[in-house]
Amino acid sequence: MHLYQVFTSVIGLFCALTQAYPNILQRTEDLKTEYDYVIVGGGTSGLTVADRLTENGRYSVLVLERGIFRNSTFVTTVNRGFFGILDPANFFNFSSVPQPLLNGRTVSVIGGQMLGGSSGVNGFQVLRGQKEDYDRWGQYFGPKSDWSWNGLLPYFNKAWNFHPPSRDLQQHFNIKYDTKFWGSTSKIHASFPTFSWPILKTQMEAIGDIPGVKFPSDSGSGETGAYWHPSSVDPSVVLRSFARTGHWDGIESSRSNYHTLTGQKVLKVLFQGKKATGVSFVAADATSQAGARTVKAKKEVIIAAGTLHTPQILQASGIGPKDLLRQANINVVVDLPGVGANFQDQPFNIGAFFNLTTWNIHPDADDLWLNNETFIAEAQAEFDANRTGPNTIASGNSGAWLPLNVVSPTKFRDIAARYEAQNPASYLPAGTDKTVIAGYQAQKKAKAKALKSSGSAIYNFFFTGRAQRNGAIVFLHPTSRGTVLINPSDPYFSAPIVDYRALTNPIDLEILIEFTHFTRKVFTETRFKHYNPVELEPGADVKTPAQITAWLKGMLIPSCFHPIGTAAMLPRNLGGVVNEKLLVYGVIGLSVVDASIMPDLPGSYTQQTTYAVAEKAADIIKARA
Ligand SMILES: Cc1cc2nc3c(=O)[nH]c(=O)nc-3n(C[C@H](O)[C@H](O)[C@H](O)COP(=O)(O)OP(=O)(O)OC[C@H]3O[C@@H](n4cnc5c(N)ncnc54)[C@H](O)[C@@H]3O)c2cc1C
Ligand SMILES: *[C@@H]1O[C@H](CO)[C@@H](O)[C@H](O)[C@H]1NC(C)=O
Ligand SMILES: *[C@@H]1O[C@H](CO)[C@@H](O)[C@H](O)[C@H]1NC(C)=O
Ligand SMILES: *[C@@H]1O[C@H](CO)[C@@H](O)[C@H](O)[C@H]1NC(C)=O
Ligand SMILES: *[C@@H]1O[C@H](CO)[C@@H](O)[C@H](O)[C@H]1NC(C)=O
Ligand SMILES: *[C@@H]1O[C@H](CO)[C@@H](O)[C@H](O)[C@H]1NC(C)=O
Repeated sequence: MHLYQVFTSVIGLFCALTQAYPNILQRTEDLKTEYDYVIVGGGTSGLTVADRLTENGRYSVLVLERGIFRNSTFVTTVNRGFFGILDPANFFNFSSVPQPLLNGRTVSVIGGQMLGGSSGVNGFQVLRGQKEDYDRWGQYFGPKSDWSWNGLLPYFNKAWNFHPPSRDLQQHFNIKYDTKFWGSTSKIHASFPTFSWPILKTQMEAIGDIPGVKFPSDSGSGETGAYWHPSSVDPSVVLRSFARTGHWDGIESSRSNYHTLTGQKVLKVLFQGKKATGVSFVAADATSQAGARTVKAKKEVIIAAGTLHTPQILQASGIGPKDLLRQANINVVVDLPGVGANFQDQPFNIGAFFNLTTWNIHPDADDLWLNNETFIAEAQAEFDANRTGPNTIASGNSGAWLPLNVVSPTKFRDIAARYEAQNPASYLPAGTDKTVIAGYQAQKKAKAKALKSSGSAIYNFFFTGRAQRNGAIVFLHPTSRGTVLINPSDPYFSAPIVDYRALTNPIDLEILIEFTHFTRKVFTETRFKHYNPVELEPGADVKTPAQITAWLKGMLIPSCFHPIGTAAMLPRNLGGVVNEKLLVYGVIGLSVVDASIMPDLPGSYTQQTTYAVAEKAADIIKARA
């Protein structure tokens, strides 16, 4: 029973908590001075690792989380998938630096900020990458690495409790699944809605009309193709299943070795020589270090603050590129140039958008998007009465995950060859450290292979169920690399400086132009042509590469909220930040377990992999305890 609330923290926050969750008050106790493990960030990975480290009762663990416990309907509601980001209290939101190649636009940098982190606001889509993605991670370390598809599969199984679709849904939509790719013990649930849009059956068939598109046995089989996949929904209540409900609710309160402190922002890791001894932290909305408190970690400090904040904390602690640290007046503990480099996310708002003008099967997702009040009322009544129907759908459960040789059978080899032949330093920021350049070169070699492989998805068409604006394309493996760096004039309290460096590698545009041609083909050369497709954007008159490029620069958003890579698990001479045991190079007793350790993107969205990595991380940490 220990959800600590620090009385000295800001009164406003305190009152908000008190009103909403009176039980937290009764559970107030003092923080201990030391724990075996201090976990920074109580998000997706942090709460997963904390649950696993406390379950045998041998180790004491403190989780420090900047956000608070939140359980409003904005967090729990499944319907449409994005209620979480309708309430600004659930997430942080700051601006990236302007993107010159996106006409100078800035991008909203968004992530969950609550107990549960981004898993409390995400779009519910449960997807994993291809076998080749995970094998590639290990291959950066050599053939013996256990970071591989086979090394991660047990953790995918441990991380997810799979519930098959209903027989009706299976039969009607021809949904395939194979339970060998899933587990049944986790309290993180993966399930299907009870209803789906008729148009999705046709959409799946239409994509199958494209030569080379396969239909794997399960969304988790590690293959490319078109398939149905579950949502992170607990089917017994049809509410969001996330790190807090699965790894904290009812768990933390029953374990005396597990403490949580919310509403607290960690500023830095403390060191004695090279040994991490603890952290210092302040109330979440403090504006100075006055009143900072410290807590000690006997065994390890574990960073799980997410891809945008993990590099900030490391750099603010003296671990990062030395020139940046000196500029910020921070004492250099380790000169580690990879911290905050290698930043990647998945661009969307690309491809093309079509109206299937003669599609006339009711309903489809446009009844929601275009506000058919009658339909919305009926769906709500059904959900309220039976917890079934359209409101059990989150943001989607089907899509295509296609290799470049299917998207552009005539050009993929040339594109891959041009990419591989690039000078690796040419498209990285001026002055990039030679180890980071070497890491990019190694990735380039591996990813050029992926661009030619049938086993690596590059293009994702995620099916929304809309007829009048059909087209939701995601670029799974952009080649451009960004940075996440502390603001040298205010490293602790200013948001990190995030630069997506969108489209800085010109190969990205070459690939995106192929995406536009291919998306047009999906609508005009498959059975979709029977529904009189009319191109809404960019418009049939936008034809030449220059015209398509101009459209993309005005439209593309370089983030689908899937940031990774800023504390990459790579050899140190390839710009790595953590080794295969997830320990930060050059220091003792400091590890990173969140999405920032992924060296490059999986060919999928990121939550499923984040949970699996965290499960593996917990075993690695316990093995050296
Ligand atoms: C809006 C949105 C939609 C998404 N949709 C999908 C989807 O549909 N499917 C999918 O697969 N993936 C999706 N994702 C991505 C997925 O949710 C993330 O990849 C994953 O949750 C990241 O987990 P994490 O542990 O790395 O970080 P997080 O879960 O973000 O946890 C980091 C935690 O650290 C805390 N923190 C940060 N700084 C500090 C500090 N200084 N002190 C203390 N605490 C701190 C934060 O408040 C946060 O709670 C989405 C993400 C977002 C934001
Ligand atoms: C969160 O909200 C849901 C839905 O209102 C409720 O069923 C559940 O008990 C709540 N959880 C906690 C831990 O308060
Ligand atoms: C994030 O902030 C920007 C700028 O204030 C705003 O335009 C945008 O709508 C916000 N995003 C969300 C999801 O609220
Ligand atoms: C799509 O086409 C239909 C039928 O012509 C039309 O009523 C509708 O307004 C169109 N929608 C859009 C977004 O153009
Ligand atoms: C709105 O929904 C109702 C109820 O499902 C349906 O009968 C009607 O045709 C829909 N209207 C439109 C414009 O699609
Ligand atoms: C709830 O389910 C029952 C049994 O199938 C059905 O008769 C009823 O119409 C449903 N209620 C609503 C509002 O859809």
